[in-house]
Amino acid sequence: MKRKTYAAVGTGGRVPMFLDPIVDTYRADCELVGLCDPSEVRRTFHQKRLASEYGIAPVPTFSDFDQMMRETHPEIVIVCTPDALHHEYIVRALEAGADVISEKPLTIRADFYAKIAEAVRRTGKKVRTTFNMRWTPGIGKIRQLIADGTIGCVRHVDFEYYLNTSHGADYFRRWHSEKSVSGGLLLHKSTHHFDIINWWLDAIPAEVFAMGKLCFYGRENAIARGDGRFAEYPRYTGEPAAAEDPFAFDLNQSESTRDLYLNAEAETGYLRDRNVFRAGIDIEDSMSVMIRYRTGEIVNYSLNAYCPDEGFRASICGDRGRIEYTERHASHILTGDKEVQTDGDDYTMHVRVQRHFEKPVEFDVEKVSGGHGGGDALLQCQMFSSNPPVDATNRNAGHEQGAASLLIGAAANQSMQTGQPVRIEEMVSLRPDKQRLHELV
Ligand SMILES: NC(=O)c1ccc[n+]([C@@H]2O[C@H](COP(=O)([O-])OP(=O)(O)OC[C@H]3O[C@@H](n4cnc5c(N)ncnc54)[C@H](O)[C@@H]3O)[C@@H](O)[C@H]2O)c1
Repeated sequence: MKRKTYAAVGTGGRVPMFLDPIVDTYRADCELVGLCDPSEVRRTFHQKRLASEYGIAPVPTFSDFDQMMRETHPEIVIVCTPDALHHEYIVRALEAGADVISEKPLTIRADFYAKIAEAVRRTGKKVRTTFNMRWTPGIGKIRQLIADGTIGCVRHVDFEYYLNTSHGADYFRRWHSEKSVSGGLLLHKSTHHFDIINWWLDAIPAEVFAMGKLCFYGRENAIARGDGRFAEYPRYTGEPAAAEDPFAFDLNQSESTRDLYLNAEAETGYLRDRNVFRAGIDIEDSMSVMIRYRTGEIVNYSLNAYCPDEGFRASICGDRGRIEYTERHASHILTGDKEVQTDGDDYTMHVRVQRHFEKPVEFDVEKVSGGHGGGDALLQCQMFSSNPPVDATNRNAGHEQGAASLLIGAAANQSMQTGQPVRIEEMVSLRPDKQRLHELV
């Protein structure tokens, strides 16, 4: 059987999620033909790592994406660049005749999404959005309970996500702290959460209202809180004054952060360890969003990125009862290794279901090993196996389901700017004739 050919653009911390299964578990089905990144250091880091770990011939690397497409003709392109660039590479890959697997968020703006949708229509090619959270066991269990009608028709969801001072802080060191590059955390991070709410409800969002602010990270906040001593240096690596700083992140701490980021600084100027209490950060760290769906459900969502621990809590109210779901996570920071660095292994998933006039039932969902609660491995199987298990609960997401999530974040950004609610259909048209998420590609 001929193997499917893949190429990747953006070879930083996240890309092993895609490269390693292609050349290892699914090598009988897949072939990696090219790696593209403006940083020679980063692309050769992965080229050498894959050759030495899996004994494969060095994969050709490119700084020029179009040259890679001309010379290697991949059937599928993996887009793993900073978020604001996704749409550009998706469109160029589709135009060159490839299907696309894009990291989340699919893109960060409604007008960027319109370009993707138009290119899909024009080329007839496909785009997959990699929503790995859909594949985790606790989230799947909640979807099943709702779909089985355990609490009747869902009317309201209250969803609180909290990031800690390790993982949450990490977004404020990198490109994620620039709204023009990441869209802010309501795009970069909340796209996962908006997606699982969409998927749980099998619903399409219609209207969004949001408020947010930067109240913890950033220079002014540190000084106002009496933590000005942590704001006195621009970055952490090589900074003696940061020795006692609990937010310090030393790029010499591991071989991968040194080889992937520190050694590449002269090439691209990308600093991976900027001070989280510097001036100029323009994303929020504290956010509240209200969402109304086409089918009438209402959602109350919050995200705070400076909490002592990490996880989320969702309360789902139906007209026959209520589900409460709690996840606690060890936070993780991706450093370009295929193993994920965590600050503990306390991953728990707890469910409490109570139907009207009945006693509550409580249980823990069993842990599955592997990245993102085992979700990464199941998604890898769907992406790369020539014979994946049937996707009975519609976990695979195309570009329209990617849009249903990102457009909540884009609408929330607009709402925070104007102080007004935003109707998504006024930003971009997303199949106005459809009511349910599964009706979208
Ligand atoms: N699903 C998840 O759980 C998850 C987790 C982490 C990251 N991600 C996503 O993965 C993607 C990559 O994130 P990361 O953590 O690897 O970031 P990173 O900064 O480690 O890597 C990004 C790479 O893109 C490259 N790049 C920059 N400009 C480019 C350009 N013009 N053309 C091509 N490449 C360019 C950089 O040189 C770098 O190698 C992002 O979209 C992010 O949202 C998803």
